[in-house]
Amino acid sequence: MRTNTLLFAVSISVGLFSSGASAQPIGERPVIERHIDQTNINRGRLSLDDLRRLGKALFDAKFNVLDGQGRPATTGGGAPRVPDQPEMIRTSGPDSSSCAGCHAQPRSGGAGDFVANVFVLAQTLDPVTESVSGAFSNERNTLGMMGSGPIEMLAREMSVQLGQIRERARADAQSTGQAQRRELRAKGIRFGHITVLPDGKIDPAEIQGVDWDLIVKPFNHKGAVASLREFTNNAMNHHHGMQPVERFGRDTDPDQDGVTNELTVGDITAVTLYQAALNVPQQVIPPEPVRRAAVVRGEEVFRAIGCAECHRPTFVLESREFTEPNPYNQPGDLRPQDVPRVFSYDMTAEGEGPYLERLGGGRAIVRPFTDLKRHDITDGEMTHYANEQVPQGRLNGFAPASDFTIPPPVRPTAQFLTRKLWDAGNSAPYGHRGDLSTLTEAIKWHGGEARQTRDTFMTMAQHDRDCVIEFLKSLQVVEPTNP
Ligand code: HEC
Ligand code: HEC
Repeated sequence: MRTNTLLFAVSISVGLFSSGASAQPIGERPVIERHIDQTNINRGRLSLDDLRRLGKALFDAKFNVLDGQGRPATTGGGAPRVPDQPEMIRTSGPDSSSCAGCHAQPRSGGAGDFVANVFVLAQTLDPVTESVSGAFSNERNTLGMMGSGPIEMLAREMSVQLGQIRERARADAQSTGQAQRRELRAKGIRFGHITVLPDGKIDPAEIQGVDWDLIVKPFNHKGAVASLREFTNNAMNHHHGMQPVERFGRDTDPDQDGVTNELTVGDITAVTLYQAALNVPQQVIPPEPVRRAAVVRGEEVFRAIGCAECHRPTFVLESREFTEPNPYNQPGDLRPQDVPRVFSYDMTAEGEGPYLERLGGGRAIVRPFTDLKRHDITDGEMTHYANEQVPQGRLNGFAPASDFTIPPPVRPTAQFLTRKLWDAGNSAPYGHRGDLSTLTEAIKWHGGEARQTRDTFMTMAQHDRDCVIEFLKSLQVVEPTNP
C-alpha cells in the first residue's frame, strides 16, 4: 500500500516545489507528487496565486494509478461494489484522465464539445452500464467555470435571504399559533410562497424553482449542487476515481486500488479556488458600426420581449469577497466550522482578470443572464428539452423529509436551471445535451414557461431576431488580461 505524503512544510520563500531535499526521482511517478496541507492554507502561508497555480496543476493533471486513479471496488457515487469493474468506461466512469479533458474550451476550466458529454447518474449504477440510452442516465454537455466564483456567492446571498424569510415565518407561526404564508423573493427573483405551520413544519406546495431547503444550488444544468467544492469532490471520484480525504476518510482505501489519501483537504481547496478565480465573461462590442448597432438593438429587444425575465442581466452582490468553504456544504465537504478561518479574496481585484465589476460599499455587479431558478420550458409541442428520464435527487434538497408536511417527490426531470448566457457567444454547442448547433435552435425549442416569449421571438421581424443573436454573440469568455 502506498500512502501519499503530505509535504509542504518547506519554506515557501524558496519556491513551493523546490525544497531540494531529494534528488530528482526517475521512472514511473504519480502526476501529483506533493499534496497541499490545509493547515498551511489556514495559516495564510499560501496566497491566492499560489493556490490557483497548484489548483490548475490538479485540474489539468492526467491522473495515473500511482496517484490513485480508478475505483475498482466502488461506484461513482462512492458505494461499495464487487471489484470486477472495467478500469475506464465512457458511460459509468471513470471516463476521463483529467478535469481539463472535458473542461477545455476555449481553455482549461472552460466548457466542452459534444464529445465531452457526461452520462450523469450512470456513475451510480452497479453493475456499470455500457448503454448511452436515456433510460439509464442523463446525457449532459460540459459547462464552463469562468465566473463561477461570483455565481457561487450570488447563490449564497440568495439562499441567506430565502432562509431569513422562512425563519421569520417560523418565529411568527410559533408566537401566534397561526400558519404563516410568505412570498419567497431573493434579489428580485420570485420562488413562489412558503407556509410554515405552528409546529415548525413546512408546507412546500407553493415553493417554485428551488429545492425545498431554500438553498439556491447554482451548479450543473439541474441546479442540484451548492458549491464548487461539492462538485469537485463528486467529480474527482466520479470521473477519475480519485478519492478526496474529506469525503472518504483518512488512511482508508474504500475503492481498494492500493492508494490512500489520494487528495488532501488542501488539494480540494486549491482546485476549488482555481475554478472560482477564473476570469469573468465579458461583453465584447464588435468594431463594425452595423454589428455594434445590432448588439445595442438586440439587447433592447431581448429585454422587451421577456427573455430577461429568466435570463436576468444584472445582480448586485452585497459582498465582493469570495470565501471558502461554503457554509451550505454538508458533511463530506469541508465546512467553515472545520477550519480555524475561511480563506477569502476580493473578486473585484484578485485572481484572473478581467475581474468582477466593483460597486461602492464593498459591493459588486454580476451579469450572468440567469435567475438561478429552475423552469420547465417544455410543452406538448416544444419537447426538445424534455429528453431526460432519470430523476436527479429529491426536492427536499439537503433538508430531512420530516421537515415537510408532504413526502418530497423527485426533482422534476423537465426542469432546468436557466442557462447562464454570459458566455453564449463562444460556448457552442447549446442546450443541456449540447445537441443544438445554433443559438436560434436553442431559442426555438423554448416552450412551457417561456412559450410566449419564444413565440414573440419566432414571429418578429427578421432584423430584430438577427439583432438578438448578435447581442448574444457579444457575450463571451475572454482571454486572461493579467500576467
Ligand atoms: C467527462 C467530462 C467531464 C469531466 C472529466 C469533468 N467534468 Fe465537470 N462537467 C461536465 C459536465 C457534462 C457538466 C454538467 C453536468 C450536469 O449538468 O450534471 C460539468 C459541470 C461541472 C461543474 C458545474 C459548472 C456549472 O456552471 O454549473 C463544475 C464545477 C465541474 N464540472 C467541475 C469539474 C471538476 C473539478 C472536474 C475534475 C475533478 C470535472 N468537472 C471533470 C463534464 C466533465
Ligand atoms: C421561463 C424562463 C426562460 C425564458 C423566458 C427564456 N429562457 Fe432561455 N433558457 C431557459 C432555460 C431553463 C434554459 C436551459 C435549457 C436547457 O438546456 O435545458 C434556457 C436556455 C437558453 C439558451 C441556450 C444557451 C446554451 O448555452 O445552451 C439560449 C440561447 C436562450 N435560453 C436564449 C433565450 C432567449 C433569446 C429568450 C427570449 C426569447 C429566452 N431564452 C427566454 C429559460 C428561459
